Amino acid sequence: MIVFKVIARVGDATLAQAKVATVVGLILAGIQFALSKRFIKHTSYLEKTFLGFLGIGTAWVYLTPPGLSSLFVDHSTALLYFALFLTTLIPQLFGYDPFTYTIAKQMAPERVWNTPQFRAINLHLTYFWSGIFLINFLSSWLGHGKPLFSILIPLIIILGVGLPVVRIYPNYYLKRQFTSQPIDPSFLPDTGKELILQMPMGFRPEAAGDLNAEIQFDLSGEGGGKVALSISEGTCTVREGEALSPALTIISPADLWLKITRREIDPARALMDGLYKVKGDMNLLIRMGDLFRAPTKVRKEDLIEKEEKKMKILAIQGSPRPKASNTEILLLEFLKGAQSQGAETETIYLKEREIHSCIGCYTCWAKTPGVCIFKDDMPELLEKVKGCDIVVYATPLYNYNMTSLLKAFQERLLPLLDPHLIKMGEIYRHPQRYKMNRKMVLISTCGFPEVSHFDALRHVFHHIERSGQTPLVGELLMPGGELLKQQGMKENVQGVLQTAYRAGIEVIREGKVSKETEMEIQKPLVPPDTLAEMANLWWDSHLEGITQGKPVQGKIEDMRLLLRGMAAAFNSQAARDLKATLQFEVTGKQTGDWFLSVEDGKCTYHEGKANAPNLTIITPSEVWLAIANKEMDGQQAFMEGRYKAIGDMSLLMRIRSLFGSERS
Ligand SMILES: Cc1cc2nc3c(=O)[nH]c(=O)nc-3n(C[C@H](O)[C@H](O)[C@H](O)COP(=O)(O)O)c2cc1C
Repeated sequence: MIVFKVIARVGDATLAQAKVATVVGLILAGIQFALSKRFIKHTSYLEKTFLGFLGIGTAWVYLTPPGLSSLFVDHSTALLYFALFLTTLIPQLFGYDPFTYTIAKQMAPERVWNTPQFRAINLHLTYFWSGIFLINFLSSWLGHGKPLFSILIPLIIILGVGLPVVRIYPNYYLKRQFTSQPIDPSFLPDTGKELILQMPMGFRPEAAGDLNAEIQFDLSGEGGGKVALSISEGTCTVREGEALSPALTIISPADLWLKITRREIDPARALMDGLYKVKGDMNLLIRMGDLFRAPTKVRKEDLIEKEEKKMKILAIQGSPRPKASNTEILLLEFLKGAQSQGAETETIYLKEREIHSCIGCYTCWAKTPGVCIFKDDMPELLEKVKGCDIVVYATPLYNYNMTSLLKAFQERLLPLLDPHLIKMGEIYRHPQRYKMNRKMVLISTCGFPEVSHFDALRHVFHHIERSGQTPLVGELLMPGGELLKQQGMKENVQGVLQTAYRAGIEVIREGKVSKETEMEIQKPLVPPDTLAEMANLWWDSHLEGITQGKPVQGKIEDMRLLLRGMAAAFNSQAARDLKATLQFEVTGKQTGDWFLSVEDGKCTYHEGKANAPNLTIITPSEVWLAIANKEMDGQQAFMEGRYKAIGDMSLLMRIRSLFGSERS
């Protein structure tokens, strides 16, 4: 533009000079445009405007009759300002990035490009520049191209007003956004994690509308941890751990988040400065101030109110492999869901307790009413049962029924009943000795794939419900329960866990688990034939001595099981219309050839060698098993040459998404 202006004698040129000026200017602008594209990989609006302006100018001076072409020669500076005015005004009106974006992006770190503040600041500055260019256009046009009006005044405006405002405005904007008073720290919990755990209490459903989203907090340092907030249907729940598909992830030091909540630090500034990171939906981040009330005294009152209404849940866990059991996995999620609604929970692991079998002496009915002869752990547990609102019976299915541990416990509940036979409705039963308002929930897992295996157990509990005046308000029955611990099934299992969590929420909020939730838990994770095939492979693997670890560890020690599990966990959505064969040539401890065929949205597992596989993975069994068990990083192992891949490498890249999600 400078060369153009010099040759065109700052608009005071003859037509012949202007013709040379536009062509030279156009060639230079073209070269600059091409170089930017090639080396910086992008071009700014400024380059495009100059190129367009000089292109139109060239056509104008060469192609139009002299009367018209002299118009361009006389007003080229004014026209240039007009072109700049349009460039700063129009793109954002059509949804394109505003004019200042490219320049701002070179100055600000990438993490802030998507923040609403960055967009707002840029938009304001862009409109500010269109104002400046409009003034310059008018000055130049009305001043008839005289240097004072077309050069001096515009330059003073650009250098004296434009550039200083660009420097000052971002800080001014951010400061103005953050003018609120700090919050009294005594209203807040002491750690970042507790703070997030309490956020649902300040949730404003009216601000959420029909928002449906998960927000993941990943707080590092002291008082940190992973906490997931889930907003749906006008409610907000919280749980420790990872959200399945968070719309927004906030990665921050725990103490920083406390300071942000106390309003000691401006969240936007802190984000710009890289003190914390955000992934996902930035609009959700900006809405957070609206979605959650600031911690105030009112919120403290909320807390007290919740305190008063706390439901007490007593979980009786009857698995002989207590904390490493499948049933425990379901139970834990259920209890977490209930806790998120303010319930108080306690779990009794029967395996760890001393509970004598009932000997049918009826001492607790006849000689010492309500008191058993055995002074084991049961008297204490009876008090707990009496004092709770919900008893959760959690048991694996043993021989179509509850385990003997749970059966013994239930028999020892006899002191809670009155011996008399009273007819109520159609049947006689023993009334409760103590006034009570208890409900029951049943949680069970079984080995077989069909839910019908629970029939007898359910029948027993329906009897207990009717005879014991204890409503059964939820049945969480999961067939194929051994899949809960299989490494390769983690992604599928996530859905079950979320459903169990939801059941916990429902039982507190609605007083019972919904039928939909119950049905969801019962849905098989894999088809029955697949489960049977996997189970049989698993037992063979043990019998052949390939798998040696305990079942409770859920570790995969057999390549066949791993590959069969991969086929079962196949994600047909991620595969779309992929047709491919993945061959595994396995060396090391467990040598063999196996392959997976992907076609028509299905994946099948085969032994032997495939014809013309698309990808062949040559690996020692120890390496792939270690990767599957999360003891080794797959990418790193590949880089270090621990396994080889021949063929379509894009397939290797897709393995994670094809067989579970990125996270699994
Ligand atoms: C002694 C015994 C009896 C079992 N009976 C059955 C049964 O009748 N039906 C069934 O589907 N699974 C049965 N199983 C399998 C367990 O129910 C299943 O593995 C369950 O998920 C174990 O749960 P846990 O890890 O919580 O103990 C039985 C297991 C054992 C050890």
